[in-house]
Amino acid sequence: MTEPRPADRVSRRALLGLLGAGAAGAAVGAAGAAGVAVAATGTIGAAGGGGGASAYPFFGAHQAGITTPAQDRLHFAAFDVSSTLDRTGLIELLTEWTEAAARLTQGLEVAEGGATGGSDYAPPVDTGEALGLPASGLTITFGFGPGLFTDASGADRFGLAARRPAALEPLPRFQGDALQPERSGGDLCIQACADDPQVAVHAIRNLSRIAFGRASLRWSQLGFGRTSSTSTSQTTPRNLFGFKDGTANLKAEDGSLLDEQVWVQASDSPAWLAGGSYLVARRIRMIIENWDRVQLGEQEMLVGRSKGEGAPLSGGTEFSEPDFEATGVADKPLIDTNAHVRLAHHSSNGGARMLRRGYNFVDGNDELGRLDAGLFFLSFQRTPQQFIDVQTSLAADGLNEYLKHVGSAIFAVPGGVREGEFVGQALFA
Ligand code: HEM
Repeated sequence: MTEPRPADRVSRRALLGLLGAGAAGAAVGAAGAAGVAVAATGTIGAAGGGGGASAYPFFGAHQAGITTPAQDRLHFAAFDVSSTLDRTGLIELLTEWTEAAARLTQGLEVAEGGATGGSDYAPPVDTGEALGLPASGLTITFGFGPGLFTDASGADRFGLAARRPAALEPLPRFQGDALQPERSGGDLCIQACADDPQVAVHAIRNLSRIAFGRASLRWSQLGFGRTSSTSTSQTTPRNLFGFKDGTANLKAEDGSLLDEQVWVQASDSPAWLAGGSYLVARRIRMIIENWDRVQLGEQEMLVGRSKGEGAPLSGGTEFSEPDFEATGVADKPLIDTNAHVRLAHHSSNGGARMLRRGYNFVDGNDELGRLDAGLFFLSFQRTPQQFIDVQTSLAADGLNEYLKHVGSAIFAVPGGVREGEFVGQALFA
């Protein structure tokens, strides 16, 4: 797991100053691929979810941004690689992205010189909007879509076809899917999470800029108000239906369950993906105007938990185990047969679990004056089948009347990056 590191309340500008001055006494943290050194003042930022000042190491056994305590903000981007890009060009892009991400996550500008230190006669290498802001818990997580291995016409553009994970296929069509191609798929993805939206946006903007001519944005999504906890240290947030979300999530502290359910193991195939995971992204529109007319009791029945406490309707408090056998009046199950938590529970899905890491979104409104709002669902699992099993089971979910899945994508997320390597290097070995 990625441990939060004592970090700075030092701004990017101040940090550069510190580094430039030799920063006597400053702790030197994870050195980046580009030789990045990181100063820490000893002030410890809160661990994600609103602390605003943490810096998480970029290098490690797993990529950050999975078991890292879910930050409050998201900017997610999916890219199509250019038809003119070759294998060498792809490796160069991943190398440059790695170097930039190693710096950005430590609160540094994207490259030496930054927004103001370069030539007056060249565009600045950093776009500048994060000057003065701390690292804000920024994590940057990279993923590879099915199209990177073979494109839509079956072409093996990068000599990677034979290394494609057999399970990395576009997701099957699920009941009720209303997917929009322009919000789905992608050859590459970057998930940037931070406690400050400007920091997350700055990361995606600068990484997109680096990719210019080699990969272009296919779709992107901003998210606010994490809809999950990924650590027992966090309080459970709420989604736009007003319910606590993340209570029964897999969390960083779950130890061997993470190896069983989230991380691709060395014994799994392909070996290059060991330490990684599969990322599923679903843009789920919530028809909140209709939901807001549903009675409280029915809302709770559809979810299977109480709205206030988030306790299972079988009784207890938020973290009590749901009892799906418990019955009430006229032997009716206390947790309805079509309740979301019953159908999503691992006992209904052959033991399949996942680590959910989604965000709320509100992207303006539609032509009928309804908010274009919902849940940008993100989950990490050891095999895509875990998501497929749960989503198939959710075909009977009573919540579906208020949901519409409009975007979908899947990515193989390579394992953690070691210093001096680029993300996904084992794929090219
Ligand atoms: C907008 C759509 C969705 C909403 C509003 C929603 C809401 C919720 C809520 C309120 C809970 C209970 C609290 C918790 O344990 O986190 C929950 C649990 C869960 N949800 Fe969802 N969810 C949505 C979509 C999905 C999707 C697409 C999946 C996966 C295919 C999923 C999988 C799960 C799982 C695995 C649990 C934990 C069940 C348990 O073990 O008790 N959810 N969801």
